[in-house]
Amino acid sequence: MCSSGRRLEETFSMEFEITIEGPARAVYKIHEKLKSFIRSSERTDYHDALGGKMARIVILEGDEELLDRRLVTISSQIADFCGDAAPKEDIRVRVRNLAYSEPYTGSGEFAEPFEPIPFLTVQPWKPGLAEPDDPQTIVLDCPHAFGTGKHPTTLLCLRFLAQMAGMETRGGGLQGLRVLDFGCGTGILALAAAKMGCARALGVEIDPDAAKAAKRNVTLNHLDGIVEIREGSWEAARGRFDLVLANVVAGVLFKVGAEIPAHLNPGGRAVVSGFGEKQDGEIRRLFEDSGLIVYEKASEGDWCALLLKDGRLHKNG
Ligand SMILES: C[S@@+](CC[C@H](N)C(=O)[O-])C[C@H]1O[C@@H](n2cnc3c(N)ncnc32)[C@H](O)[C@@H]1O
Repeated sequence: MCSSGRRLEETFSMEFEITIEGPARAVYKIHEKLKSFIRSSERTDYHDALGGKMARIVILEGDEELLDRRLVTISSQIADFCGDAAPKEDIRVRVRNLAYSEPYTGSGEFAEPFEPIPFLTVQPWKPGLAEPDDPQTIVLDCPHAFGTGKHPTTLLCLRFLAQMAGMETRGGGLQGLRVLDFGCGTGILALAAAKMGCARALGVEIDPDAAKAAKRNVTLNHLDGIVEIREGSWEAARGRFDLVLANVVAGVLFKVGAEIPAHLNPGGRAVVSGFGEKQDGEIRRLFEDSGLIVYEKASEGDWCALLLKDGRLHKNG
C-alpha cells in the first residue's frame, strides 16, 4: 500500500478488536485460522487468559459496509471452526469498538487497585481476593461490560457524583437520594452512589451480559439491599428519581435523553456523559428543550459531561 493510502487508513479507520477465549488447543487453532483474514497493517496475538488462552485480532476499516462484512465473515469462520475445535459453550467471542472501550478483568490494564477519584478505590476482582478493609472500596469484575472507572466518561460522572456528595471533604453524602444509573454497564456508578450514601440505586442495562456482570458486582460488594440491577431500558426504570446518571454514547443520548425529565423528581439532577466537544451544542439543546437547566460542564480529554437540573415549575414543591 502507498504511504498516503496508509496515512488515510490510519486517520479514518475504525478499530475493532475481536477476542476469542477458551481452551488452549481450540483457541490456538482458531487463531491460526483467523490470521488469513487480517491485513499486514492489522494486529493479532495469542496469550494466557483466566482459565485458558486468548487470541486477539484487531482489524482496521475505513468503510462501514466493508467493516460489517468483515465482522460477519470472521464471526461465521469462528462459529464454523468452534464446532470442530471445542464445544461452542466453552468458547467466548467478543467484539469491541476500540474507539470506545475499556480494559477487562484478566487484562494487565485492569489488575491493580486504583483511585479513580479521591476516597474511592476500585479493586479489580480476581479469584481468592480477600474482602477489602476499606469500606470505600468497590470490588469490580468486568468480564464483558463497560465501566472500570478508567474511561474518561466514567471518571467525569464519578467526579460529579463526588462533588454532589461532598466527598472531597468526606461530608454530606447522597443521603436519602434515589438514584438511577441508566446504561449501568458494570454498575460502577450505582455502586459508587451507594458508597456515597444514597438510599437506593437502580441500574438498568440493555445488554444482558453487562446486566449479569452488574448484578454480580452488586453481590460482590454486599450492596444487594441498596442497589438493584434490571435488564432493560426506560421500561425497566419505572418511577422518578432524585438523580439520574446516564453515561451512554451520544447516539443513545439523542435517542433516549429526552426521557430523563419524566424520570426526575421535582428539583432533581442528572449527569450525562458519553459525548465529545463537537456534540456539546446539540446535546445541550436537547436537554434545554426538554426543560432541564445546564448547570455545569466538565471535560476530560475529548470527552464531556453535563450536570443538569430540573428547571420545571412544580406546583407542589
Ligand atoms: C458507556 S457504557 C457506561 C457504563 C457505566 N455506566 C459507566 O459509566 O462506565 C454505556 C452502557 O449503556 C448501555 N446502553 C446503551 N443503550 C442503552 C439503553 N437504551 N438502555 C439501557 N442501557 C443502554 C450499554 O450497553 C453500555 O453498557
